[in-house]
Amino acid sequence: MEIVRTIEWMKQAARQAEAAGGVAGLVPTMGALHEGHLSLVRAARQQCSRVVVSIFVNPKQFGPGEDFEAYPRNFKTDRALLESAGVDCLFIPEAFEIYPAGFCTGVHVPGLSETFEGRVRPGHFQGVATVVLKLFEIVRPRYAYFGRKDAQQARIIRQMAADLNLDAEIIVRPIVRESDGVAMSSRNAYLKDGERRAAAVLHRALHAVSLKIAEGARETSSLLEILRSTVDSEPLAKIDYAAIVDADSFAPAGFLRGNCLVLIAARIGATRLIDNLLVEEREGKFTLSL
Ligand code: PAJ
Repeated sequence: MEIVRTIEWMKQAARQAEAAGGVAGLVPTMGALHEGHLSLVRAARQQCSRVVVSIFVNPKQFGPGEDFEAYPRNFKTDRALLESAGVDCLFIPEAFEIYPAGFCTGVHVPGLSETFEGRVRPGHFQGVATVVLKLFEIVRPRYAYFGRKDAQQARIIRQMAADLNLDAEIIVRPIVRESDGVAMSSRNAYLKDGERRAAAVLHRALHAVSLKIAEGARETSSLLEILRSTVDSEPLAKIDYAAIVDADSFAPAGFLRGNCLVLIAARIGATRLIDNLLVEEREGKFTLSL
């Protein structure tokens, strides 16, 4: 596995591989890799002749008082995991090169960036979209892989790619979970013992909603009640938001129709976790993806 630390080198390597007729897949990450990240790598490995993974803890997507400094950084473990996953190239740029003095451009996807995660974390999605566009331009992937764990992020990247006619096709992959249902996240490392157990309540609540849908419930108000009351039953959990939205517009939905997302964000102690359930309806037939 080639390890590339400068933008110039990465651009050169990417353009050479492109000229040789390769199909490049990019998996952008902030490191502290887990099975969720590796599932994206495996999807890329299947589809592409060349797999590039980036690790960059992007300062522009952390707000003041958020966990930029504390964010876990495990370069050696990450490198070993990517090597055994058959990654061709690891791009690990420095912040001073990504954001040199005087850097001032930002990519803003209005509307979608201001609700839910964007409301709780102002500026977050502008930081995400800006760095992802930069990575796309440096690496020039044919495919780029994102997780549905961060459903709003994936939706915003898709919008940006469509609006700016980017060549990269955005692939969104399912949520990978721990054995108790907790969605894998680099931030799970912050959870203390009791908190780690409490974190499973998000999945339990989404699961309870999925059972109700399977039983025939279609009105979102009653489903939201189940979602909220299940999370509220866990004393360590504090809901940030609970919502059922249209998966395209992220506008709240009254009834389940087309593609909807059941969204939950909660604090477990000091750690903020998000999770979701995808509900797809075609001609009255429902598919639920947790
Ligand atoms: P990070 O949190 O490291 O996540 C990198 C990718 O892994 C994202 O697309 C995320 O949705 C996906 N992912 C995380 N946990 C997952 C899980 N349990 N199952 C499936 N996929 C999962 O998201 C970011 O980094 C950054 O915002 C980034 C896109 C790299 C821009 O800085």
